[in-house]
Amino acid sequence: MKVIVTGGLGFIGSHTVVELWNSGFEPVIVDNLSNSNESVLSQLNELTGKQTTCYKIDCTEVDMLREIIREEKPEGIIHFAAHKAVGESVKEPLKYYGNNVNSTLVLINLMREIGIKNLIFSSSCTVYGEPDSIPVTEQNRRKKATSPYGNTKAICEDIIENSVHAYQCLRATSLRYFNPIGAHPSGLIGELPLGVPNNLVPYITQTAVGKRPKLTVFGNDYDTADGTCVRDFIHVVDLAQAHVAALNFLISSKSESLYEVFNIGTGSGNSVLELIQCFEEVNSVKLNYEFGSRREGDIEKIYGCADKARAILGWKSNKTLQEALADAYRWERRLLESN
Ligand code: UFG
Repeated sequence: MKVIVTGGLGFIGSHTVVELWNSGFEPVIVDNLSNSNESVLSQLNELTGKQTTCYKIDCTEVDMLREIIREEKPEGIIHFAAHKAVGESVKEPLKYYGNNVNSTLVLINLMREIGIKNLIFSSSCTVYGEPDSIPVTEQNRRKKATSPYGNTKAICEDIIENSVHAYQCLRATSLRYFNPIGAHPSGLIGELPLGVPNNLVPYITQTAVGKRPKLTVFGNDYDTADGTCVRDFIHVVDLAQAHVAALNFLISSKSESLYEVFNIGTGSGNSVLELIQCFEEVNSVKLNYEFGSRREGDIEKIYGCADKARAILGWKSNKTLQEALADAYRWERRLLESN
């Protein structure tokens, strides 16, 4: 069974490609290489022992995408392709609305036109904003997004939900990811941030190998046990497996039309400081860090309840924070050796 994976050369997309092969699917990648590297494809082929088809096109190119979908006749589509830098989205909102929203519209229109039923959308816990209660469940109300990036996720969720209800020919899930970290244990694929990383773990690993002089912890005066922010850090391989579970759920569903939202997290939170200490311990390294001021727009404390995914998809996260941080560091060292 073929599955189109948009953004399949990216961080979460590439790990999902591996898990799809592992589960008997044939992933077909569509990626415009805007924030990914072609080398990922050869790494994927080495890791899986399979030749993954990859179309280097943009998901807003409707005619080309139509040809690909008609040719490949996929059982479903997993839509990762999106711009994802929160700060950049504030400076360039139209780039974010233009790409993230348009690509989703193009895909849904083509799915209706060609008769592809199953869609998995990459959403984010960013739709909860600063939550009223934690752990957040899918019943927590969504808050007004604090960035255009976050807003594109909420808008796309709505577009998908409205389309499912109106057209009665689609089965879709939005997976609300918490904070994906780590890398494949093989050391062959991982996160490849362009330039200075925005996210915590790539910043830590780059600091640990000497690529960056020092990590700044953004704020230690939050109302949390140690004053630093709390997040639900999930191993990217666990997250990738959630997509396979969601796909199996959609494919085996008897309903013609279905829309479900799932939190994809570990169910518990760790502070930034706890994560740093765990990184130092598991990798036997000392990290150079200092406390700085808060980063604008940061949520103080969020972690998710993933009981719904467990009950309906039969999925739960299995890997520990230790494993994720060992895998992330292995990947960073491998990058250093290969450069
Ligand atoms: N942090 C630092 N120093 C850094 C980078 C991050 O202290 O150099 C802190 C942040 O302040 C935050 C925590 O580490 O407290 C996690 O920050 P990330 O940037 O790694 O992740 P965020 O929780 O801010 O963002 C993630 C995803 C977004 C998504 C958001 C939803 O990267 O795509 O979760 O809450 F929108």
